[in-house]
Amino acid sequence: MEKGRIVLGCLAPHPPHLVYAENPEQNEPFSEGGWETLRWGYNRLARKLKNIDYDVMVIFTPHWATYIGTHFLGLPSFNSLSVDPIFPNIFRYKYDLRVDVELAEAMEKSAADAGIITKMMRNPDFRIDYGTITSCHMLNPEWNKPIITISSNRNSHYYSGEVMNEQSSALGEACLKAIEESGKKVVLVSSNSLSHRHFVTESPLPEDMSREHIYNHSQYVWDMKIVGMMRDGKMREVIDIMPEYAEQTIAETEAGGLTWMMAAMGFPKYPAEIYGYQSVIGTGNAIVAWDPNSATREIVL
Ligand SMILES: [Fe+2]
Repeated sequence: MEKGRIVLGCLAPHPPHLVYAENPEQNEPFSEGGWETLRWGYNRLARKLKNIDYDVMVIFTPHWATYIGTHFLGLPSFNSLSVDPIFPNIFRYKYDLRVDVELAEAMEKSAADAGIITKMMRNPDFRIDYGTITSCHMLNPEWNKPIITISSNRNSHYYSGEVMNEQSSALGEACLKAIEESGKKVVLVSSNSLSHRHFVTESPLPEDMSREHIYNHSQYVWDMKIVGMMRDGKMREVIDIMPEYAEQTIAETEAGGLTWMMAAMGFPKYPAEIYGYQSVIGTGNAIVAWDPNSATREIVL
């Protein structure tokens, strides 16, 4: 059997506003648009993904927060209505998704063998979080590939950003081992924003773009520093400063997703593809991809 591999890594932020603005049939509320810089970037990355041969999308989400161990989806399908607890006015999404249980179990075993506390999610009524749904919908609106969601074990809450970095790196290495042994071609997805201070009141019309801007300038400067390092292929350095960055900007990277994905991909030294950066309720959101194949890697923006 051919060795499995990661064919693309995606930093895929999940403001539910993006799904709301796209008006897919699965989402109940209606919008007049908004956040085009991010949506058009996502649309372009989704077109690239259509030309990549892959078996499964593996996504790490901050909004399935687990406090004892790392959990993996462990049933072949899940379907229900996902309602964003903060924004029920913009996100009420009917989902019906498939899971690659075989690879999920292999990753769980590999992580457990590495000493990480793990558990498979076998509850058929488990509600999939809006982070998983938003990132997967924007990357693959057809939902024609199975997914695996990995929970975010909140080591940063128990201990520190440094411990979170170490634990997430160990998880990434364990997942890579399982992927290689599976023979499958895998797309990794880190579902998170960058800087994450946000407004606490919503404009009367959520998609009113005259109200949208970054929460503060220092947050913007930090985000641009990180995006610049991604562009320059300095992912080892980005992960090294992650605890400081997360503390300064309340970055959603504190959940461990980006560290997990970069560790699995061997901390790329090649330039990342930048698809867009824009604020959503004041948070900083970048859509970025790492393409290990130099023949198809592009300078997008
Ligand atoms: Fe989030």
